[in-house]
Amino acid sequence: MKHNENEDISSILVSEEQIQQITDRLAKQISEDYRDDERQVVLLIILKGSVPFAAELMKKLTIPVQLEFMKVSSYGATTKSSGEIKIHLDIKRDDLKDLDILIIEDIIDTGYTLNRLTTLLKNRNAHSVKTCTLLDKPSRREVDLTPDYTGVRIPDAFVVGFGLDYNENYRTLPYVGILDPKVYSH
Ligand code: IMP
Repeated sequence: MKHNENEDISSILVSEEQIQQITDRLAKQISEDYRDDERQVVLLIILKGSVPFAAELMKKLTIPVQLEFMKVSSYGATTKSSGEIKIHLDIKRDDLKDLDILIIEDIIDTGYTLNRLTTLLKNRNAHSVKTCTLLDKPSRREVDLTPDYTGVRIPDAFVVGFGLDYNENYRTLPYVGILDPKVYSH
């Protein structure tokens, strides 16, 4: 029998109502900031975790945007190739020079992924690259990175839901919650 994923959550960290308030606020601010922008604004949605957040945010924007998707993973600080990012799915545009790119992320932890992705897009000559994250764990940061738009700062706990996963599960929960340690301790 399929089990109920809600039962593996020890506490709700960001409720559905809070997600609505956060996306209202961010969409308003982003729409204002890019209102007089004469270039094409592109929301770059990072798969898979950012999909629910991006979907909620984009429908509240009052400026025209285009959508692109990338799937990337970072090797992290512990491997030799810590300066690298692995691209699993890339944008199919040759020329980024007239684009103002806003990267949409689910969570910033060490900061390596977003740091490297920002550098990559700047090296490809994007006109501007800004970052927007639903969740930020500033206490875990290992590189100097401050997102341009932050939904909410959270303590150092492993969270799932609203896009975030543990072994590909829990992404469809409508809120962000702390995963009960019993789930990964057996
Ligand atoms: P960073 O490069 O360390 O900032 O890693 C960011 C990525 O790590 C996110 O896009 C997530 O995929 C993953 N991640 C970090 N913290 C969590 C968490 O608490 N739950 C689920 N995924 C996480």
